[in-house]
Amino acid sequence: MFSASKMLPGVRSVVVIGAGYVGLTLSVFLASRGVRTVCVERDAERAGKIMRGHSPIHEEGLPELLKKVIREGMLEARTELGDTLEGADIVFITVGTPTGSNGGPDLSQVEEASRQIGEALAATKRGSPLIVVKSTVPPGTTWNIVRPIIESASGRSCGEGFHLCVNPEFLREGSALQDTITPDRIVIGAKHGVASEKLVRFYEALYQPAKIPTLITTPSNAELIKLATNAFLALKISFINLISQLCESLEDGDVGVVAEGLGLDPRIGPLFLRAGLGFGGSCLPKDLRALKAFTSSRGVDISLLEAILNINRAQRIRVVERAERLLGSLAGKRVAVLGLAFKPGTDDVREAASIDVIRELLARGAEVSVHDPVATENARNLLDKTVHYASSAEDCLDGADLAIIATEWPEYASLTPNKIKTKMRNPLLIDGRRVLNPQPLEEAGIKVYTVGRSSEAV
Ligand code: UGA
Repeated sequence: MFSASKMLPGVRSVVVIGAGYVGLTLSVFLASRGVRTVCVERDAERAGKIMRGHSPIHEEGLPELLKKVIREGMLEARTELGDTLEGADIVFITVGTPTGSNGGPDLSQVEEASRQIGEALAATKRGSPLIVVKSTVPPGTTWNIVRPIIESASGRSCGEGFHLCVNPEFLREGSALQDTITPDRIVIGAKHGVASEKLVRFYEALYQPAKIPTLITTPSNAELIKLATNAFLALKISFINLISQLCESLEDGDVGVVAEGLGLDPRIGPLFLRAGLGFGGSCLPKDLRALKAFTSSRGVDISLLEAILNINRAQRIRVVERAERLLGSLAGKRVAVLGLAFKPGTDDVREAASIDVIRELLARGAEVSVHDPVATENARNLLDKTVHYASSAEDCLDGADLAIIATEWPEYASLTPNKIKTKMRNPLLIDGRRVLNPQPLEEAGIKVYTVGRSSEAV
């Protein structure tokens, strides 16, 4: 069924286990570069959708490329590993590691994938494939959990019957395909040179003529680099949100300007200093909790990590408290929430600030209408039935006493004073993502409260 014409030299085929953001994007990219790819996804509906060329996630460029590689026969999605390891050179594990009941990650999907790989290896006659752990896991997982499971299920030993390494993923949702096509770094953790060299050669062939900066280290270091990177990004966001609270308390404070000043120091840099409702998504909060659980398990002080999470939680509540102060009481008041996705460019609402804000508004008696250009369907599963889903931003504002911008979709930045005034019962905005220029709105008689800016500073 595969066409052999476009294969990348030196690699026959690759198996990717798990069709989430990382696994699906990687699979489509590899297939587009001439690597025969089998994506194993246990959710039959999701696998079927992929086989029909329909992307189960909203990611720029992905639907078109997925259709193309399915049409060309370079990508196959199936629900079982079966005999796919026969002839496979590399197996990527890209299954989820959600937060478990103890706050640390639930590794059951990684363990299950490892067991399946081991069993498939036991039934495979040829080759010693390279197993690559791309799922985000705590330090020590690959060597102390994945390796023994594969060894005992396969009867083979690591370094001979198969090779093993860690290769964390740094792609961002919303630009997942672009980040996969042009990664800014590659981190590989392995105990044996054979494993890391094989992956280095594969990536060199894949990305040539570009030379991607590559760090080769131990499995635990590679695992820690991933968790520490996300935790550091979260630290920057919570830090600027702490500063934003200070700015709000000043008579002429504006966190945008303070962040700009901070970013001028090359040791700090300007990125990830956007104040607002804080970080959400399936990665930063989860990985921070994973690092906290790991830190605690090593007897190391977790207070810095806890502070990052606390500040993040507080940003969401503060905005609702502000709404309550502005309206006196929220009971029976109509509040429009613009944006549901945890950030623009995605339909992902996991741990989105909007969800907590909406729940808190409802708990205080508000009637809530919401809008998002792409994430409405995903939000329906998480929100109370009383929430009204508007088909446009204007509809969402209709009759509202207050509007809160929860996601910085570009269309919200272009809301004109006229539209806001004609639609809202009471022209009052809380800009939770700092997307609006308050000046023309205030001049038109609209009251704007921007996170991180004192009202007098407008
Ligand atoms: C994050 C990392 O950025 C990726 O490098 C990593 O690969 C990924 O997690 C992962 O572990 O899989 P992602 O969750 O897609 O990527 O989103 P980010 O762009 O990091 O944004 C996370 C959250 O922080 C969003 O809610 C965003 O609105 C918020 N944010 C970001 C801010 O509030 N301020 C900022 O300055 C930047």
